[in-house]
Amino acid sequence: MTKRILILPGDGIGPEIVAEAVKVLNRLIADGLDLELEYGLVGGAAYDASGQPLPAETLAQARAADAILLGAVGGPQYESLDRPLRPEQGLLGLRAELGLFSNLRPAILYPQLAGASTLRPEVVSGLDMMIVRELTGGIYFGQPRGVRILENGEREGFNTLVYRESEIERIARSAFEIARKRGRKLCSVDKANVLEVTELWRTVVKEVGRDYPDVELSHMYVDNAAMQLVRAPKQFDVIVTTNMFGDILSDAAAMLTGSIGMLPSASLDANAKGMYEPIHGSAPDIAGKSIANPLATILSVGMMLRYSFGLADDADRIAAAVSNVLDQGLRTADIATAGQTAVTTAGMGDAVVAAIM
Ligand code: IPM
Ligand code: MG
Repeated sequence: MTKRILILPGDGIGPEIVAEAVKVLNRLIADGLDLELEYGLVGGAAYDASGQPLPAETLAQARAADAILLGAVGGPQYESLDRPLRPEQGLLGLRAELGLFSNLRPAILYPQLAGASTLRPEVVSGLDMMIVRELTGGIYFGQPRGVRILENGEREGFNTLVYRESEIERIARSAFEIARKRGRKLCSVDKANVLEVTELWRTVVKEVGRDYPDVELSHMYVDNAAMQLVRAPKQFDVIVTTNMFGDILSDAAAMLTGSIGMLPSASLDANAKGMYEPIHGSAPDIAGKSIANPLATILSVGMMLRYSFGLADDADRIAAAVSNVLDQGLRTADIATAGQTAVTTAGMGDAVVAAIM
């Protein structure tokens, strides 16, 4: 059956990197994969066209699609808009409306890039971990939220960190299932020593853990986890954590791999319908310069094939092609080390397509 993929390039470098991932998809279509691509608008691009970061039409397209490939959203020109109109609301709206609660962010160090990390090669070489970030709850979505004026005229900003038991349970199950298919080690990251809500998080994760006696469960406070990630990252197999802690820790994990330009992600609902995107942002400072690294987006296509379409072999072909171009010494500016000439965004994309076996 034809799989329908909605492509949402978004803002900044989004259109440039997505164009390279589409080359990869077209190559797979030429090889016989039954995929149909459709385009839509989200973020600042949608706001410019229609006055809304998540137009009803885009949401309808997203609901109808079997999977979504998204570039990135945001840019300085939108920062002064009212919050509901900002590009980020397009992304957060898609996550919430589609129920994409389970966000998988693998951090894998390609051996060819051991020298590109800011950490010593022996600390990061062989790194292969997965952060499972809760994506539709927590402080990102909790009510009440806002900025109010107190009686004395002072302004007060507030957000609410809230998790229901059912939300914790389903993300914990996702993470245990993933750990089971990997190294069978799960570390749940919380701040249970200070925050009641994450004390409940810890309790519920432990309860779910009774169904997974084959997975070794540990717990870590988030401040310690941040330190351990840069001290000895290879101790981790799978991390499960809240929306905001996962946002922060996954950027730190990205740098272990040499560049945030290397990390793909999958955001899945309960039926493995997913939205796939690089974990980096729209990088407005380098947009339009043809220097952005398309590999995170290309690897996101690989995750789509694996998690939404069950095409593990084709996902492996993409991963092998990426490894092959790195072997050839091809580097975009973000992963080039001294003496290496950087290729353009399109140069990298073309090379990956050519390397697909
Ligand atoms: C991410 C991003 C988003 C987030 C922003 C763009 C809203 O940082 O996907 O990690 O905070 O979730
Ligand atoms: Mg982030």
